[in-house]
Amino acid sequence: MKVIAISGSLRTGSSNLELLRTATALAPQGMHIELWEGAGALPHFNPDLDEGEPPQRVAEFRELLRSADGVIICSPEYAHGVPGSLKNALDWLVSDGTLAGKPVMIVTIAPTRGTFAHAQLAETLRTMSWNVIEEASLMLRKSEEARERLRASLEMLAISSASPRRDR
Ligand SMILES: Cc1cc2nc3c(=O)[nH]c(=O)nc-3n(C[C@H](O)[C@H](O)[C@H](O)COP(=O)(O)O)c2cc1C
Repeated sequence: MKVIAISGSLRTGSSNLELLRTATALAPQGMHIELWEGAGALPHFNPDLDEGEPPQRVAEFRELLRSADGVIICSPEYAHGVPGSLKNALDWLVSDGTLAGKPVMIVTIAPTRGTFAHAQLAETLRTMSWNVIEEASLMLRKSEEARERLRASLEMLAISSASPRRDR
């Protein structure tokens, strides 16, 4: 089972990225978690660029997600919202109907636990018809709070990714 992990922070010392690295080590048997760190290199979303062939990096990103059984998004909160680079990456996926039903687990790490960003991410992903696994999702103040809860969340993501709601 292949899971793609996306960090909403581009910071080198990011706590969100650190949590995703921890997740790769805690993955249940049979799950391989691959970190995708390309958000900062995607072009700004422009529907004009999405007519015909999309930009190469966008095409590769979509292909990677198509090949995934599940997705983890781990993000900070910026000004009560989703960081722009992450929202930009998601905007490039809106038109890709082949990703509908994709199981996704949302984690936010921020001093306020990222409640606003978490709600916005869930709303955006549901609008894209992704399958947000609420029982696996976490809101944390610090990445180190997470180890045991993360292990349980990954187990829940594994179950949803093994039996998706619909054909993908
Ligand atoms: C521009 C900016 C805006 C922020 N706004 C919020 C906010 O609205 N709520 C919050 O809880 N934290 C806010 N923070 C703090 C970050 O969410 C927090 O530092 C987070 O842990 C950063 O994640 P990272 O370590 O993965 O980069 C903000 C940080 C920055 C740089």
